[in-house]
Formats: sequence, structure tokens, C-alpha cells
Amino acid sequence: MIDIHCHLLDGIDDGAKTFEESVEMARLAYEDGIRHIIATPHFCSSFMTERTVQLHKIARLQRELDRQGIAVTVSPGSEVRLESAAYVYEHADRNHFFYLDAARRFVLLEQRWCGYSEDTEQVVKWFLEQGTTPIIPHPERHPFFRDNAQLLTNLIALGAWTQVTADSLLGKNGTEAEAFGRWLLKHDHVHTLATDAHNTVRRPNLSDGFRVVAETAGEHRVQQILECMNSIVAVQNRS
Ligand SMILES: [Fe+2]
Repeated sequence: MIDIHCHLLDGIDDGAKTFEESVEMARLAYEDGIRHIIATPHFCSSFMTERTVQLHKIARLQRELDRQGIAVTVSPGSEVRLESAAYVYEHADRNHFFYLDAARRFVLLEQRWCGYSEDTEQVVKWFLEQGTTPIIPHPERHPFFRDNAQLLTNLIALGAWTQVTADSLLGKNGTEAEAFGRWLLKHDHVHTLATDAHNTVRRPNLSDGFRVVAETAGEHRVQQILECMNSIVAVQNRS
């Protein structure tokens, strides 16, 4: 399995605090059946992670994982927050954040927590025009999507994908997130599953999430989601 959303790198956002914790998270991911992690630190007004710092941390971590025989590949990504359309366009133009793959076919495009951004449809269309599919992380955790699912289904109709967090399906992000996550599954609105792991407690765990997918939407849906996830790393960054 591949994890497309993980705060694996230490000391650059609210994810892993130490290098040792990064290694331990990768080990837990490996034990869960994950073989590729896209390290996606926050890219937002409060955490403007620099590309060179991120690449340096990935290279160091990959060396240690290789040395310890933990067979997990780590590649760069970003969790880009839609602070505003202007914010996204400016930083895309300056090449400040990472897409999920070297060919820029996918990007993780997060909503603010304070409310739905009215710029979203415009930004989704902008990415799609450039051949990039925006993936909306954890919509089940945002009250405005739960209260008005059409905000989300409109984005899906445009061509956006969704990423539901495995922990939400397990009830770890509250009953409302769990219920909406399962509703999205039943209505075929889930394209990918990810861990959004931040540490060894809020840890990498995909297999339990896929068990819920199988129970809720059937084994064929598990396969469809895995195919979507695998397509993201068909051509991958190793820079
Ligand atoms: Fe995240």
C-alpha cells in the first residue's frame, strides 16, 4: 500500500518531533503493509516548509530506513492549504510546494479549518486545466462538508478526488467524521484513503481503514481505491 498523506518528517510542522520518531513511524507503516509514503508536511501560512529542507530530511530518513532494512520508499509531497486562490497560484508559480508526483498529476489541496473557501471551485478548475487532479484531504473532518455535502460533490463532479483518513472510519476523529466518511464510501465518493499520521500515537494505519471499506462498500471498492492510490505513484519523485 501507499500512504499519500503523512506528516512523517521531523521538526518541520506538527508531525514527527524527532528523527527517531520519523523512523519509528516508517517502521509502524511497514508493519501495517505500507511500502511507499509520500511525506506531506503542511504548506500553509503557519508552516511554509522549504523544499530544500524537506528533500534533505527525506534523503537522511531514506538512508536510515535503508540501513535498518525498513523497506519503505519516501518521496516528497505537500498538504497545500487553500488560504486563497492568490496564495495557491503564487506559490505554485514559484514552485514552493510539492505535488504528489514528479509529473504533477496530483496535488493535496486542503481546506482551511475556519470555513469553506469560496475560491475552491476556481482553484480546482485551475489545477485541472494544467493536468493536475486536486485531492481534497479528509473532507469528513470539515463541518461545512458534513453540513452541505453538495459543496464536496460539486468538486468531485468537476474532477477533484477525495482522501478520507483511515482513523476517521475507525471513529478516532469523532462520530460525525466517522458517519460522513461511511456515507461518502456508500456513495462512491472516496477515491483514496490515507493515514494523515502525525506521530506514533496518531500513527500510520491503513489496513484497519480498508477493513471498514470492505465492510461498508465491498471488496470491489477496496480494489478501486487501491488502483487510484497506485496510479498516483506510477511516475514518482525521487529527487
Ligand atoms: Fe495532514
